[in-house]
Amino acid sequence: MNILVTGGTGYIGSHTVVELLTAGHKVTVVDNLCNSSADSLAKVSEICHCSSIPFAECDIRDRAALGRVMDSDRFDAVIHFAGLKAVGESVEKPWEYYDNNIGGTLVLLDVMRQHGVKNIIFSSSATVYGDPQEIPITETCPKGQCTNPYGWTKSMLEQVLTDLQMADSEWNVVLLRYFNPIGAHPSGLIGENPNGIPNNLMPYITQTAVGIRKELGIFGNDYPTPDGTGVRDYIHVVDLARGHVAALKAIAGKCGIETFNLGTGTGYSVLDVVRAFEKANGVKVPYSIKPRRAGDIAACYSDPSKAFRVLGWKAEYGIEDMCRHSWNFQKNLLK
Ligand code: NAD
Ligand code: WQD
Repeated sequence: MNILVTGGTGYIGSHTVVELLTAGHKVTVVDNLCNSSADSLAKVSEICHCSSIPFAECDIRDRAALGRVMDSDRFDAVIHFAGLKAVGESVEKPWEYYDNNIGGTLVLLDVMRQHGVKNIIFSSSATVYGDPQEIPITETCPKGQCTNPYGWTKSMLEQVLTDLQMADSEWNVVLLRYFNPIGAHPSGLIGENPNGIPNNLMPYITQTAVGIRKELGIFGNDYPTPDGTGVRDYIHVVDLARGHVAALKAIAGKCGIETFNLGTGTGYSVLDVVRAFEKANGVKVPYSIKPRRAGDIAACYSDPSKAFRVLGWKAEYGIEDMCRHSWNFQKNLLK
């Protein structure tokens, strides 16, 4: 298939481009580079041993520029990663988050329908479940109260896509709710390299292990979990990327809307991850216990069985692979 990937130079997008090309799809990337660099596509070409990947530096809110990209080829589907994703920043700058994520997606959807492209895979998040009513979380678990504007953009966009599909049955929509993506490509060439102080656990761990940060602060050890620290469903970014390829295959030629959890189904605590990282890499991660972080929940992990049943997809990598590949990428950044 011929796929337009928005946000394709970013962390999950670049890994997905690798898996799309490996599966024989044709790819064009659109990204405004606000949180990434076009260099990642050069690395993708290196991994895939292919010539340069068609790329348009373009903001998806720029209707004319996006229209020109869609005029340039006949796309079968769009995989839509482009968006802002920093939870804390979204609390400080809600307008920017609603404008970019919701405004951008509305423009994208309009340009898509003008071009007769009505197949979309959307990057949603487990954050739409809020503090989940049941664990493991199935897709039928009711959506909850999000604790930040970022989360609301995901929840609202799911609704926008649902309404659009209901009004026009030619649309084919897949909502993929990611749990906690970590890890990096096994080549060590692409991975997550956040600007400034990391918000997420794994980049904080790798930066601590490499000496950029003094110690990891563990946000709370008094949660009702086995060791008191927060439990999450960490998923290797390559497995996550392959979930998109599986979704594309499953939706080809169909219409409708489907939602899938993309997780492993296993919850690990913060201390489990620290220990797995130390074991996998033979390095120490100094840490101290800090107060709980506002907005955090105790535990969140998926029931990913629907994705296996319908898409034939399941996560293959384990927690130590995720830790080893994250560390490998972090070390390469210093070279
Ligand atoms: P990322 O920041 O690495 O990638 C997002 C990309 O979108 C970046 O390259 C950025 O430059 C681009 N972008 C942002 N706004 C844009 C715009 N207006 N026009 C064009 N490009 C724009 O983030 P990621 O971790 O790869 O996340 C990809 C998607 O998955 C996002 O929608 C994110 O919300 C979602 N998601 C991420 C996680 C996670 O923990 N990483 C979890 C759940 C969902
Ligand atoms: C994981 C665990 C922390 C950092 C966030 C977003 C969510 C989704 C994924 C996009 C928690 C603990 C963390 C640190 C710590 N993104 N922690 N010290 O909060 O589950 O999810 O990213 O959709 O929307 O909210 O991920 O990696 O920040 O935290 O102790 O320095 O690690 O308290 O228990 P989270 P995270």
